[in-house]
Amino acid sequence: MNTKQQFDPTDLRKALGTFGTGVTVVTTLSRDKENIGVTANSFSSVSLDPAIVLWSLKKHSPSLQAFDDSGRFAVNVLTLEQMALSKRFASPIPNKFNTLEITQGLEGLPILRDCAAVFECKTIERLNFGDHILFLGEVQAYQHSHHQTLMFCRGKYVQGLELDTLSN
Ligand SMILES: Cc1cc2nc3c(=O)[nH]c(=O)nc-3n(C[C@H](O)[C@H](O)[C@H](O)COP(=O)(O)O)c2cc1C
Repeated sequence: MNTKQQFDPTDLRKALGTFGTGVTVVTTLSRDKENIGVTANSFSSVSLDPAIVLWSLKKHSPSLQAFDDSGRFAVNVLTLEQMALSKRFASPIPNKFNTLEITQGLEGLPILRDCAAVFECKTIERLNFGDHILFLGEVQAYQHSHHQTLMFCRGKYVQGLELDTLSN
């Protein structure tokens, strides 16, 4: 058991990484109308009524300003076919949207094509915690498809395998 005095960041990341998640690209539109996007697996649902979701972005991200300025974001839930997009949007490169076909959501939010789901949100809270900024958003519009969802667990991209179905 590790206690707080001796947390090793690499080991802590490894422990947290045992919690498997989906993979999203969270997008927004900057003040000068540039499309912005980052890969994020911190996405989670918070409330169904009203529909509220959250995600967090590291404080030193060059994309932070755009998310702060726009007050809006779209969560694009990736499919198995979109692993390359996850890698692209996880790289600190310019022109992440280069040659990508996108559609425009509410107020011009960039939406990736053929995702498992998309949630277009208005930021309702921005909280400063440790090395990340937590964004809570109220869902203004959403869509979803039957494409298989890309998963991430223990630092690896994985594919979900159905084991059982909720009975209720
Ligand atoms: C699967 C995966 C999940 C990630 N989740 C997050 C996240 O939730 N928050 C975050 O700040 N960075 C996350 N990252 C790292 C960012 O995608 C990466 O730092 C990216 O460069 C951020 O874009 P930026 O350089 O424009 O800020 C994740 C990376 C991967 C591969």
